[in-house]
Amino acid sequence: MNREPELEVLISKRKIAAAVRRLAAQVRQDYIQKDPLLVGILKGSFMFMADLVRALEIPLEIDFVRLASYGSGTRSSGRINFIQDLTSPVRERHVIIVEDIVDSGLSTAFLRDYLKEKGPASLKLCALLDKPSRRRISVQIDYLGFQLPDEFIVGYGTDLNEKYRNLKDICVLKESL
Ligand code: IMP
Ligand code: MG
Repeated sequence: MNREPELEVLISKRKIAAAVRRLAAQVRQDYIQKDPLLVGILKGSFMFMADLVRALEIPLEIDFVRLASYGSGTRSSGRINFIQDLTSPVRERHVIIVEDIVDSGLSTAFLRDYLKEKGPASLKLCALLDKPSRRRISVQIDYLGFQLPDEFIVGYGTDLNEKYRNLKDICVLKESL
């Protein structure tokens, strides 16, 4: 039988909003008059990026990249590539990578190393969610919303097979099969 999986709210929209305000306050303090460039990793970060930049209320610019990791199923091979590169110049800019979830760390480590090569004035990482138990490469998260246990979540930009990105809460899928 093909039943819809059940969704259980793990982080409510209220808690997400509070975390976004907290992160924005930290970033604002560090980047005031620095005109930072925020680089979101698509697609998952689109909602977090939209809320974060509105909460920041300082002059800034945004850009996006899309990355693909080659591998089969849920296991990433570790090889990351661009599907879409950013278009903004990075040299001498204060750059902040904006990511939904740092899982293995491979995506953010790849983008960090790529951007570092371009000579930014500074480079930091802001992630809404962190699954430290899944890490395969070390990455420093400078601004973090929440740590998660090793559970697959959806919502607030994140997906399962492109579904659930529009959920307002961050939810865990309970397979009810
Ligand atoms: P990493 O390269 O393994 O750190 O993977 C990061 C990407 O995998 C994130 O940007 C998410 O898009 C995706 N991802 C990791 N864990 C989850 C999850 O629990 N739900 C949905 N997407 C996830
Ligand atoms: Mg992502």
